Amino acid sequence: MAKHATPLLDELEKGPWPSFVTDMKRQAETHPECWDILGQLELSYKDKITHWKHGGIVGVFGYGGGIVGRYSDVPKRFPGVEHFHTVRIAQPSGLYYSTKNLRGLMDLWDKYGSGMTNMHGSTGDMIFLGTRTENLEPLFWDLTHNLEQDLGGSGSNLRTPSCCLGESRCEWACYDAQDVCHHLTMHYQDEIHRPAFPYKFKFKFSACPNDCVASIARSDFALIGTWKDDIRIDQAAVKEYIAGNYPANAGAHAGRDWGKFDIKKEVLDLCPTGCMWMEGGELKIDNAECTRCMHCINVMPRALKPGKEKGATVCIGAKAPILDGAQFATMVIPFLEVSKENEYENVIDVIEQVWDWWMEVGKNRERVGETMQRVGLPTFLRVMEVEALPQHVKEPRSNPYVFWREEEVEGGWQRDVEEFRRKHNA
Ligand code: HEM
Ligand code: SF4
Ligand code: SF4
Repeated sequence: MAKHATPLLDELEKGPWPSFVTDMKRQAETHPECWDILGQLELSYKDKITHWKHGGIVGVFGYGGGIVGRYSDVPKRFPGVEHFHTVRIAQPSGLYYSTKNLRGLMDLWDKYGSGMTNMHGSTGDMIFLGTRTENLEPLFWDLTHNLEQDLGGSGSNLRTPSCCLGESRCEWACYDAQDVCHHLTMHYQDEIHRPAFPYKFKFKFSACPNDCVASIARSDFALIGTWKDDIRIDQAAVKEYIAGNYPANAGAHAGRDWGKFDIKKEVLDLCPTGCMWMEGGELKIDNAECTRCMHCINVMPRALKPGKEKGATVCIGAKAPILDGAQFATMVIPFLEVSKENEYENVIDVIEQVWDWWMEVGKNRERVGETMQRVGLPTFLRVMEVEALPQHVKEPRSNPYVFWREEEVEGGWQRDVEEFRRKHNA
């Protein structure tokens, strides 16, 4: 596979950001098929159109997903990318690696693939970019037998779950996001590897409302850590912030002079519910009115901490625009205990409540968020056996098209017009 002229791509070797073109050229020295990737990409830059054929169905026996098949539509010009399948590899929760493990994976990919990767796919998987069909089973054999790792998910199934780094190095974690993520990934291997759903379904776990894995926007089932008692205040540390001895937001805005820290301006007046005030040099919080937005904690991490009664909020139904428009997840369960002791039984119960229903009533290629829209939130809450709460809505409905169930209405729906006419003559 020869080197191609890539004048347009060469432009992208300029500038300070790490250049994917430079990296690919370096990779091409040992994996000549990378010249063809660059060549085909250059052609796409010129033609302003993709040069991959539609679709591609490949995989390994036993599984219904995990590998995304792909073929060049100009294979004669670029034989190195005639087959260019992508393999999704299950990643460790929180993406902590040892160099030993990474070397093992890269040796494997050097042997069977292009050597090019994506670290990581948006859903979380480690992505091996580009190999031929005949390499898939041998790769899978070595991956499972030598490295004891598995493929990730693809298709109408549970996709690879992912999480924030949680308790591993964040003092705001309200539950062990990595452990839940790992536990549920293992628990639902069958649902990950063999598509059984109307459409894809994703889990994401963020251990506090900062939501570092963006679960509320990128997962059908988002578990977002929170607490229900009082924010823990260290008044001495609050004084240090006021005195300017501790940097606000742990120094996140140090690149610009924003003046001396002003607790009123930067914390009290920005609290969305206005539930904070200073009294006798002490910071006070009316926790009953706190929505746990994280702002004050984010600004003064050394003085404020989430409470001790920790758990999580369950939000369901986020999705991208196709078909019915983009959705963030809807709050379904305000507070759920998340306990390692019962092996996350509560979380599992909620997930299965959704699945048992959606797997039956979900239409073909209908995300759960769309199914919820179709049947309406009141019906969905009944399915979930959750009592409707004011917290379920941002605001009550303004239109009066209210459905009542027959049993809620005295006399029911069976009425006799003759009866009506006896009082109201036509
Ligand atoms: C072919 C002729 C007509 C058509 C296709 C028509 C169509 C409609 C439609 C679709 C509605 C809304 C119904 C709803 O939202 O449930 C409506 C409401 C109404 N129409 Fe007509 N209409 C026609 C003629 C008339 C005439 C001639 C009058 C009065 C003399 C009239 C008076 C009304 C009134 C007062 C309403 C409101 C009823 C309510 O909200 O209770 N319409 N019409
Ligand atoms: S989501 Fe919260 S707990 Fe998780 S890493 Fe981000 S700030 Fe920390
Ligand atoms: S967490 Fe948010 S709502 Fe609660 S006191 Fe702090 S700033 Fe106010």
